[in-house]
Amino acid sequence: MQIAPRYTVREASWEQEGARLRAIRLDVFVSEQGVPEALEWDCLDPTCRHVVAESATGEAIGTGRLLGDGRIGRMAVVRSWRRTGVGSALLAQLIAMARERGDRLIALHAQSYVVDFYRRAGFEAIGPQFMEAGIAHVEMRMPAN
Ligand SMILES: CC(C)(COP(=O)(O)OP(=O)(O)OC[C@H]1O[C@@H](n2cnc3c(N)ncnc32)[C@H](O)[C@@H]1OP(=O)(O)O)[C@@H](O)C(=O)NCCC(=O)NCCS
Repeated sequence: MQIAPRYTVREASWEQEGARLRAIRLDVFVSEQGVPEALEWDCLDPTCRHVVAESATGEAIGTGRLLGDGRIGRMAVVRSWRRTGVGSALLAQLIAMARERGDRLIALHAQSYVVDFYRRAGFEAIGPQFMEAGIAHVEMRMPAN
């Protein structure tokens, strides 16, 4: 007997699915974390590659993006799905996309409270903690190839 996965992760089209991805980020970053909307929508989204996680019923439950310069960002999983591996699956997909297109280095600004989440995927913290959108962050990097 085959067991159906609880969620799946895939690349998403910003043009066609941006509204679903924006809804997750609005919920997580703006409502939950208090990031000002003007900072959340930074005009880079149309130039990024995006990923989405979907539950077995098709609900969008997580997202993240990869910039043209190899930076990963806007990683968000809806609260009720956290600590079930969704974030790690999204991150793995973004890393694979960066590798496939030949990026040499992958970087990100991690919120300090989740440094361990990124460390588990192979990222190393570089430099001191800094504030971004009112939240403590640290720069993290990993070689892509
Ligand atoms: C950060 C985030 C994307 C992680 O997603 P997730 O689906 O919960 O992560 P996973 O289930 O794949 O976690 C894998 C491991 O990372 C670590 N981890 C994840 N969240 C953590 C947390 N809040 N605190 C400490 N460690 C954490 C744990 O080791 C975890 O393994 P475990 O559950 O077996 O202990 C999610 O918590 C989130 O959306 N947070 C709000 C938005 C945010 O802060 N985004 C990050 C911006 S840099």
